[in-house]
Amino acid sequence: MPSSPIIFSLLFLSIFSLSSAQPSFRPKALLLPVTKDKTTLQYTTVINQRTPLVAASVVFDLGGRNLWVDCDKDYVSTTYRSPRCNSAVCSRAESTGCGECYSPPRPGCSNNTCSSIPDNTVTGTATSGEFATDVVSIQSTDGVNPGRVVKIPNVIFGCGATFLLKGLATGTVGMAGMGRHNIGLPSQFAAAFSFKRKFAVCLTSGRGVAFFGDVPYIFLPGILIWRLKTTPLLINPVSTASAYSEGEKSTEYFIGVTDIKVLEKSVSFNKTLLKIDAITGYGGTKISTVDPYTVMETTIFNAVTSAFVKAAALRNITRVRSVKPFGACFSTENVSVTRVGYNVPDIQLVLQSNDVVWRILGANSMVSVSRDVICLGFVDGGVNARTSVVIGGLQLEDNLVEFDLASNRLGFSSSLLGLQTNCANFNFTPTASAARYVM
Ligand SMILES: *[C@@H]1O[C@H](CO)[C@@H](O)[C@H](O)[C@H]1NC(C)=O
Ligand SMILES: *[C@@H]1O[C@H](CO)[C@@H](O)[C@H](O)[C@H]1NC(C)=O
Ligand SMILES: *[C@@H]1O[C@H](CO)[C@@H](O)[C@H](O)[C@H]1NC(C)=O
Ligand SMILES: *[C@@H]1O[C@H](CO)[C@@H](O)[C@H](O)[C@H]1NC(C)=O
Repeated sequence: MPSSPIIFSLLFLSIFSLSSAQPSFRPKALLLPVTKDKTTLQYTTVINQRTPLVAASVVFDLGGRNLWVDCDKDYVSTTYRSPRCNSAVCSRAESTGCGECYSPPRPGCSNNTCSSIPDNTVTGTATSGEFATDVVSIQSTDGVNPGRVVKIPNVIFGCGATFLLKGLATGTVGMAGMGRHNIGLPSQFAAAFSFKRKFAVCLTSGRGVAFFGDVPYIFLPGILIWRLKTTPLLINPVSTASAYSEGEKSTEYFIGVTDIKVLEKSVSFNKTLLKIDAITGYGGTKISTVDPYTVMETTIFNAVTSAFVKAAALRNITRVRSVKPFGACFSTENVSVTRVGYNVPDIQLVLQSNDVVWRILGANSMVSVSRDVICLGFVDGGVNARTSVVIGGLQLEDNLVEFDLASNRLGFSSSLLGLQTNCANFNFTPTASAARYVM
C-alpha cells in the first residue's frame, strides 16, 4: 500500500487545520452580564468584539432582530468582513437589499454588501446600513460560575450610524438583539456551538445575567431555579420593528395573556385586545426590556388602575396625587414591606389556563418616587396601541424568564425574592468550587 503515508499526512493536515479553526473546548452554555442603567432604566450588556478586542457596551434588546453597532465612529478591526450580496450570510440574515457606498472603503462602507436596517427600538428610529461579520469573544458557563472564554469567529451584525445612538444609555454603541431570528444573538450562539436554542434572562436593578444554552440556573447561596411555569411563545405575523420589509414577522416574544386579575378578581375590559390580530399585528402581549415599565393600551390601563385603586382602598391605602409617568400613586402609610416588596394587592396575568398565572407582587408592581409615595409601575400606552400589553423591565426584575426557541415555550420562575435569592446573585467569580445547591 504505497499510498498510505500520503493519506496519513493528508489526514493529519486536515485534523490539524480543523483543530486550529475550531476550539476543542465546546461550551454547553454562554453567559452575559446584564446591568441596569440608572439614568435611562435601560439594561446594558458588554459584547467583546473585533480584533483587537473591544468591550462594546450595548443596550440589551430582548426582542431586537440582531446585534447592531455604530460602525462610523472608532470601529477598527482586522477581522471585519462584509458579506457579498446573495452570499450565505446575506440569506441567513434575510437581507432584502444590496448596497453600494460612494466614499472610501471602511467598516460600514463596502460595495456589493447586503443591507441591514439597524433599529433603535428605544426611540423607534431605524436607518439603513450594511451587514457585517466580526469575531466575538464570550464567557462560557456551567450555570454556577463563569467558565472559559470562547471565540465565535463570524458573528453577523448590522452596521448602524452614530446618530442612531441617540436615546441610548451613555457609553453604549449599539443594541444587542435577542429576538427570534436566525441572526438574533441566541440563535447565532446556539449555532456556533451546536447547543440548544434556548436562553434565559434574569434582570435586576443592578447587575443581572443572561444564559444561552442548556444549563441549570444556580444563584447564591446555592439555589437552583427550576420548575418554571411555561406558556407557549406566540408569533406576531406582522413585524413590530421601526422599519421592516413587507411580510416580515415580528422578532419579539409574545405570550397569550387571556385575562388580568387584581386580588383574584377579573378586571373588565375588551378582551379582544389581548389577541394578536392576524392581519394588522395589533394587540396581544409581548415582553420587552426596552420599556422600563409595563405599558397597557388606554382602556386596559384605566380598568386595571381603577381596580387596583379600589383594592388598595380596602386595605386603607390612600391614593395621592399622581406622579408622571404613572397613573396611580399612594401614600406608603399603612403599606407594610415584605420580602417580596410592598404589601399591595397582587396583579395576575392569566395565561392559557387559570392555574398558569404570572403573579406580580409589590417588588414588581410598585415604584418608590419619594420618601412616602409609591406608584403603580404601569404606564398608559395610548388608545389603539400597537401592542396591548408590553411587560416591561420592572415587572421582569428578579424573575428568571426562559425562552426556548426550539420548543416555542416561555418559562418563568415568578419572583426569586420569595426563594431568598435574586437576579443579582449569580456568582460572577470564576473560581468558586463545584456546585452545591438546594432545590
Ligand atoms: C464602490 O464602487 C463605486 C463605483 O464603482 C466607487 O466609486 C466607490 O468608490 C466604491 N466604494 C467602495 C467603498 O469601495
Ligand atoms: C373590542 O376590541 C376589538 C379590537 O380593537 C374591536 O374590534 C371591537 O369592536 C371591540 N369590542 C367592543 C365591544 O368594544
Ligand atoms: C381600615 O380602616 C378601618 C377603619 O379604621 C378598619 O376598621 C379596618 O380594619 C381597616 N382595614 C384594614 C385592612 O386594615
Ligand atoms: C391608615 O389607616 C387608617 C385606618 O386604619 C386610616 O384612618 C388612615 O387614614 C390611613 N392613612 C392613610 C395615609 O391612608
